[in-house]
Amino acid sequence: MNKYLLILLAFSLSIKLSAQDKPGYKNKNAPIEDRIKDLVPRMTLDEKILQLNQFTAGLNTNANNIGEAIKHIPSGIGSLIYFGTDPVYRNEIQKKAIGKSRLGIPILFGFDVIHGFRTVYPISLGAACSWNPSLVSQACANAAKEAKLSGIDWTFSPMIDVARDPRWGSVSEGYGEDPYTYAVFGVACVKGYQGKSLSDQYSIAACLKHYVGYSESEGGRDYHYSDVSMQSLWETYLPPYEACVKAGAATLMSAFNDISGVPATANHYTLTEVLKDRWKHDGFVVSDWDAINQLIPQGVATDCKEAGYKAFMAGVEMDMTDSIYKENLAKLVEEKKIPITKIDDAVSRVLRIKFRLGLFENPYTPVVSENDRYLNAESLKVAAQLASESMVLLKNNNNTLPITQSVKQIALIGPMAADKTNLLGAWSYNGKDADVESISEGVFKEFGKTATINYAKGCEFDGADESGFAMAIESAKKSEIILLCLGEKKAWSGENASRSSISLSTIQEKLVQELKTLGKPIVLILSNGRPLELIRIEPLLDAIIEIWQPGIAGGSALAGILSGRINPSGKLTMTFPLTTGQIPIYYNSRQSARPYGVMGKYQNISSDPLYWFGHGLSYTSYNYGKLKISSTKITMGEKLIAEIEVENTGKMKGAETVLWYISDPACTISRPMKELKYFEKKEIFSAKKVTYRFEIEPMRDLSYTNADGKRFLETGDY
Ligand code: BGC
Repeated sequence: MNKYLLILLAFSLSIKLSAQDKPGYKNKNAPIEDRIKDLVPRMTLDEKILQLNQFTAGLNTNANNIGEAIKHIPSGIGSLIYFGTDPVYRNEIQKKAIGKSRLGIPILFGFDVIHGFRTVYPISLGAACSWNPSLVSQACANAAKEAKLSGIDWTFSPMIDVARDPRWGSVSEGYGEDPYTYAVFGVACVKGYQGKSLSDQYSIAACLKHYVGYSESEGGRDYHYSDVSMQSLWETYLPPYEACVKAGAATLMSAFNDISGVPATANHYTLTEVLKDRWKHDGFVVSDWDAINQLIPQGVATDCKEAGYKAFMAGVEMDMTDSIYKENLAKLVEEKKIPITKIDDAVSRVLRIKFRLGLFENPYTPVVSENDRYLNAESLKVAAQLASESMVLLKNNNNTLPITQSVKQIALIGPMAADKTNLLGAWSYNGKDADVESISEGVFKEFGKTATINYAKGCEFDGADESGFAMAIESAKKSEIILLCLGEKKAWSGENASRSSISLSTIQEKLVQELKTLGKPIVLILSNGRPLELIRIEPLLDAIIEIWQPGIAGGSALAGILSGRINPSGKLTMTFPLTTGQIPIYYNSRQSARPYGVMGKYQNISSDPLYWFGHGLSYTSYNYGKLKISSTKITMGEKLIAEIEVENTGKMKGAETVLWYISDPACTISRPMKELKYFEKKEIFSAKKVTYRFEIEPMRDLSYTNADGKRFLETGDY
């Protein structure tokens, strides 16, 4: 054998050996379940447990989650909340996980990407008022791309907690008061974030939160007890989760609240019996921040060990930040309290999402400049469109709006007029003031050439300083119309931002009253994160536009509505109570026993809210034709087609959302007076008619659930 042959033989032998040595879990062509089955038995107990923990990378500036930045990140950690945006730093951490941990399991980097990343879109409550789920889905896809290029694989979004108490700060993070609306927008978000496949280049994993019943915390006080009956669990709070799980949501977050005595983070029924056994969810559940530890103050665990045991056995696979799993699970396994098969199942779930994301093959973030990452033309376009579609024209007496070109002097007043920070809204961690177009910038651009804009701040958001009133009055005196920009600071809503009264601050209300004395038309522009109590000021106003916290592109969107360049099309997804004392008040409540006359109504105020769910005006008018239905009788397996023709009877093109409700006046378990089952938004040109169509499927649209989640369909009139 000559020398060359020997070298060749040795070479082919080494190839054979390395192919044999390559563990099965590293074979990208093998099915994911085979890769999991190969990897889990190779892991030690400590390695498994570390995969079930999430630490932080970087300092969290969320005042509600104070914690030291972790100095030493173990290379075998399951997940990190990544507070940075630098892909290089992120890749360095990942490199240690791949190179230094024994099995080279990649870390999953998570972050709260709630309504955009650097391109900040309207808060979710506003976005839902667009009734345009495909636009919201697009916004989520764009946000996913910006996040992914900043090192993030997983977002803690969407929040799909049906919220009926506007005192609760996190209503800003949700889609209003109706379960169906949540289901539709939740699914739109999941599809936007996760794309066609989790392994797509710019897909990130979604996390449904806060599972479940979090929005029911008593008195709207965050983190408090929630009394959720099994009936409302199944008919109100679980349906959005079920829809999103079916749409493929990779993960869920267990909530902080105590659900009628069993905290959500220790709730075997919701986390295992419902989610895993019935719905067959095969991803994993992460606890909310420190939520396992909080089982102690919640009164179901005496110490961290018991808290860890309860959360894990209930079905929480990953521990967000409180290290309880890391410190206690091994001991619990040794003591045979936790079976190893349960640990293996939990690890498999975490690994499954990592495999699906393609992290084993592509663990690193491509490094591109911030210019190439953020605020691209497509994202800006979606931000502008969503901002304009989310704004709701609540009142427009005597066609005060749009403002015609004959108006030559416009007063622009209020603490929100030149503000940028607060337009970003809560949970806009990477948003920058410099990216935001303020109301005044939008107004100057829109009207600057045809009118003089007389600006005055008037007052701060709160406090008692009235020294700015005089200048506001001066500006208003010079002007033909007053644009008054009021609202809430962004920190007044979001997590841990409950308010006992949902009215504007006294100083802002006083400013309205002062300006009213001038007798000029006042347009109130409201930017806030929840429905507000407007009872004292609404009668003083000629027009009201709710712009929510519109993100970076609110200024132009609003200005376009003010000038009539844009015809408003938003409708409320959450009722505006007349007073805080009316809470809870929502459209899909059940009928009272004495609905007639004044029985059971408030003695001092109307029992109706100021603006119901679904309210929203336009500059054009629509005429709804007669409802046509394909049949007046229907049996179980059939479909019924309902159609309505809507005519744009005004002069301007518009977009009208038709909301289809069902009611079932007599049923074994009483039904809400009406329930939204479908909606559709369409453009209608002036003097044109468009047909809207709803295909009613009896089991889907007419059935009801009992307190155990079983669905029934009854004969009767609907
Ligand atoms: C919030 C979650 C959030 C988590 C991580 C918690 O305090 O309740 O909504 O995803 O922190 O930042």
